[in-house]
Amino acid sequence: MLQKTIILLILALFPLNSYGIGCEEEFPGDTDRKLNWFPSCSSKIIIHSVKPIDEYGRPEYPVHVDVPLHIRVNLTNNGPVFTEGKVTTNLWSWGGWFGCDWHTVLTFGILSNLDACTNGIPCPIKRGNQEIIIVMDFTKWQTIIAILGNDAAYQIEQIISAPNGDSFCITVQARARKY
Ligand SMILES: *[C@@H]1O[C@H](CO)[C@@H](O)[C@H](O)[C@H]1NC(C)=O
Repeated sequence: MLQKTIILLILALFPLNSYGIGCEEEFPGDTDRKLNWFPSCSSKIIIHSVKPIDEYGRPEYPVHVDVPLHIRVNLTNNGPVFTEGKVTTNLWSWGGWFGCDWHTVLTFGILSNLDACTNGIPCPIKRGNQEIIIVMDFTKWQTIIAILGNDAAYQIEQIISAPNGDSFCITVQARARKY
């Protein structure tokens, strides 16, 4: 409840919807028409491709955050089978208030250290090459959806870590719509 109140207070003070204003580039790196991605930590899991899809598996762009966001990831797991762990999601919005850059969306830890296998990571991730579908369900976090601008550029990072310290990290930059 306190977290909600704080987030709403932040919303009132810093309406993120206006972040894009003042930026020459509303969608950096061609995110108006395509999703960018990169692995953001070194890992035994090598990521080959990341594609946003809808719940039926059809390519989707811009992405929608008012329904669970699905991404199809082609990867090769050169480490042990991933059977349990934690997932932390970091969010940034693109904008101009404090210079045109990716600015952290304050989530006060509510997207940190969640159980990976029940929060969008299809466990187990076996060894070798495979395609998995990761589901990022922001609909569970209405307070976060509320502060996101509609049809704006966002950067989303997921850090997935196993109890033995192995981790893999995917960062995507995408144009996202709320409705
Ligand atoms: C992953 O991508 C590689 C390179 O495009 C392809 O050869 C392989 O078949 C893909 N793996 C799966 C499981 O689709």
